[in-house]
Amino acid sequence: MITRRPRRNRKSAALRNMVAETSLSVDNLIYPLFLIEGENQKIEVASMPGQYRWSLDQLLPEIGACLNLGITTFALFPAIDEAKKDKMATESHNPEGLYPTALRAIKQAYPEAVLMTDVAMDPYSSDGHDGIVENGQILNDETLEVLGKMALTQAEAGADIIGPSDMMDGRVGYLRETLDAAGHTQVSIMSYTAKYASAFYGPFRDALDSAPKAGDKKTYQMNPANRREALVEADLDTEEGADFLMVKPALAYLDVIRLLADNYDLPIAAYNVSGEYAMVKAAAQKGWLDGEATMLESLLSIRRAGATSILTYFAREFAELGK
Ligand code: PBG
Repeated sequence: MITRRPRRNRKSAALRNMVAETSLSVDNLIYPLFLIEGENQKIEVASMPGQYRWSLDQLLPEIGACLNLGITTFALFPAIDEAKKDKMATESHNPEGLYPTALRAIKQAYPEAVLMTDVAMDPYSSDGHDGIVENGQILNDETLEVLGKMALTQAEAGADIIGPSDMMDGRVGYLRETLDAAGHTQVSIMSYTAKYASAFYGPFRDALDSAPKAGDKKTYQMNPANRREALVEADLDTEEGADFLMVKPALAYLDVIRLLADNYDLPIAAYNVSGEYAMVKAAAQKGWLDGEATMLESLLSIRRAGATSILTYFAREFAELGK
């Protein structure tokens, strides 16, 4: 006779819900949005169906609609005109630039919106790299200065959470000191702690026209072969004053999310990146996968792996389900 029957706990939706070990709510989600110059622009990203490059006038009502759906936190990424890019990413700390102007306008319209910003040189760099390029090398310590100015400009424009995505050594400590010295002690840092050199960023680089002009990002982003190295990065970020540790991408790196969740007391975030979104959308458009069910299962798996917060292009679609 079979006495142990695990199926008993699965016999109805009510019981399945009662014994569910993981939950997923809109409170866990951060919505990345792409910003472009101009007016009256809402241009779909070809490789990311349902995601757009928004001009500020169009972005404002979109954020309003998302707030009404319960999304509280937004991660904004700017697409900068090629003519404004240079080697030193000067435009990244122009207080009158596209990005700080948008941050101020969003904060003024929706003071309750939590705004996360991206700190890295690539959207503003004529080389398309996250740091300063000299003779084919990415300079680390010289880049920190640019990142510091960028973060300060963003904090002054109203950023709540700074997200350094550049993977330069020492940047979390440098940014914490720079922000604190200017009185921004309440601005948080969500560090891209374990950011891997990943093929899954392709659609994002299409959206921002930010692909490297030469070479790749393997001398600063992590090798996908490595797990223990994430502990080195997490130790440093924790010591340097990060408020959140992020793993990116999410789905191909669930083991790394679990590793950090088990070893650190800070909240863990995960970035369900553009390529992960594109794969689900492409298969759903072909009728090869149930897009909604696949989205829900993917997001739940990231929570189960140990992430508190998930940056995901699915945020609005999930919120619209009213779960
Ligand atoms: C740039 C940055 C990237 C992403 C977020 N910030 C791309 C990269 O490192 O090349 C990728 C996000 C995504 O793919 O959704 N510093």
